[in-house]
Amino acid sequence: MKKGCVWLLVLFGWLGSSTATAEGPIIIKFSHVVAVDTPKGKAAEKFRELAAFYTQNRVRVDLYPNSQLYKDKEELEALQMGAVQMLAPSLAKFGPLGAKSFEVFDLPFLFNDYEALHTVTQGPVGRALLNTLEAKGIVGLAYWDNGFKQMSANKPLRNPDDFHGLKMRIQSSKVLDAQMRAMGAMPQTMAFSEVYQALQTGVVDGTENPPSNFYTQKMHEVQKYLTLSQHGYLGYAVIVNKDFWNGLPPDLRLALDKAMAEATVFANQIAKQENEQALEAVRASGKTEIITLTPEQQQAWRQKMAVVHDQMAERIGKELIAEIYRATGFDPRM
Ligand code: LMR
Repeated sequence: MKKGCVWLLVLFGWLGSSTATAEGPIIIKFSHVVAVDTPKGKAAEKFRELAAFYTQNRVRVDLYPNSQLYKDKEELEALQMGAVQMLAPSLAKFGPLGAKSFEVFDLPFLFNDYEALHTVTQGPVGRALLNTLEAKGIVGLAYWDNGFKQMSANKPLRNPDDFHGLKMRIQSSKVLDAQMRAMGAMPQTMAFSEVYQALQTGVVDGTENPPSNFYTQKMHEVQKYLTLSQHGYLGYAVIVNKDFWNGLPPDLRLALDKAMAEATVFANQIAKQENEQALEAVRASGKTEIITLTPEQQQAWRQKMAVVHDQMAERIGKELIAEIYRATGFDPRM
């Protein structure tokens, strides 16, 4: 989208937005880029319902899924300008905000399962990271899970050598850039809404995402192989514009905090199952062959990607990485 159009959209969003009036409810515009039928889409809907309930309809959450209002980078700009009030970008998209530490979640094989992940996202390390957003005019409310990423392409990806020369779409994270380079691929940053077409036309050869995103974006129509690599995590931080949030009447803020806490429990309960179901739907489509790695192949992927942890330590913060290893009890470089 051209820059001028973005500004027009931002202005449009701002004009139609959120201030309380005597007649109507306060409106929270919540924009996101995925389908409604995904862990994030469903959690956002749950928050919408709970917010109405706990505020007794004094707050209304309007959802804008599927990049219908803004694409990845635009939505962050729109939030900072107050054109939308709430987002849940993936943790891989905070770099452009100057919040590079969030890219720690992109480190390959950092978490072995959801349990290890939650020691970080639902504990003090995760909270401290959210607090760093305040300096950017943003309040971090919660972490919502999606799941573990699988690698896809139009050729089978079994060994690191299979990546050689492939153009792989990534989110805007330098850690993901380094991860793809470590595998011998050529990373290409691209907005989520553009991925299907880029795969279809061969602008890129492959990508990585949890099954829920893969299936709901119909990537199985344009990717012949999906490798169950589980090589990285994709999740979200739910964030709000700080001026908007701090300007809310305290009783409404409390009610919204309660709604968010319950929506977060819901989000993190459904994510695993949503991804399992999406994977089954991909399998049932018969369009994408699903590849399971042997233990030796898995080990080769781990070894190849391990360098990224040290390569990116300066950017992310050595102490933060060490804190996460301590919280999970696992250092993937070993
Ligand atoms: C992606 O761009 O691949 C994901 O971040 C999309 C999302 O929000 O899950």
